[in-house]
Amino acid sequence: MANTSPLLRDGLPGVERRSGLSTKEFMRDYVAARKPVILTDFTKNWAAKGKWTPEFFAANYGHLTHEVKGKKYSVAEQMELIKTSTEEKPAPYSYNLNIDHVFPELKADVEPMLMGRQDRLVHPLVPKALLRGTVKHEIFFGGKGASFPVLHVDLQHLHTQITQLYGDKEFFLFAPDQTPNMYPRPSFPLYSDVDNVFDPDLKKFPLFGEAKGYREYLREGETIFFPTGWWHMTRIPGPSISYGRALLEGTNWNDYLNDTYDGWKKKSSVMAIPAYALGKAAGMLMDLDDAVRS
Ligand SMILES: [Fe+2]
Repeated sequence: MANTSPLLRDGLPGVERRSGLSTKEFMRDYVAARKPVILTDFTKNWAAKGKWTPEFFAANYGHLTHEVKGKKYSVAEQMELIKTSTEEKPAPYSYNLNIDHVFPELKADVEPMLMGRQDRLVHPLVPKALLRGTVKHEIFFGGKGASFPVLHVDLQHLHTQITQLYGDKEFFLFAPDQTPNMYPRPSFPLYSDVDNVFDPDLKKFPLFGEAKGYREYLREGETIFFPTGWWHMTRIPGPSISYGRALLEGTNWNDYLNDTYDGWKKKSSVMAIPAYALGKAAGMLMDLDDAVRS
């Protein structure tokens, strides 16, 4: 019997590939238009290219340990596991190694950034305190058969950039208009309630069977961008090292601020309002800055 997953249906459309895009074209045609794209040549000057291999991480960071699903692994151990990973026995998938905390000296390897001056996660006019708690960038280590555990939308209305620095990764994307077919979890609507997306129970989740998505391989050296609100899931065909970056700019700034404000309010109602006002004011100044430069 044919697989009924909308992720594995025959003939799914892919994601457009572009090269030689200027920041201005990228911001206009994909960020403002809220369209995903794969940039084939964006990393051509990155030091990480060809350097971030399992051997590099084993030799330089092998002693570091981190936890995946409650179990501790050293980086050296994990690099071995991602090489021998199988569909039946996938290596642990580390999808949340914050570069700022774990590998701060590697930040220079992933320059230049995609949005240049318009990137508000590093903009000089954004007070650092406003961004506290927002994870800017992460490294993902994975092996054959591993995948992110749940179909989801990324937090805080941030856009997403993922760059493959070693191996390939398969992406499944659904546009925001497919949200009713995703069964958002009532307690956490950014996660889908569909628990086995590659072989779903369509009696329990009939609308999921009608979802219309995109399926695409991101190859080594390529960068995918997808805008806020897009549902996504990945699958890994072999040893893989990816760099993930959250993206904040003029068109998602207010949504980001509103989301973050809700979080601040829970922690301190006294500080939340002035912090929000400061964010609004910084946003207006950066809008002017963007206008001058575009
Ligand atoms: Fe994600």
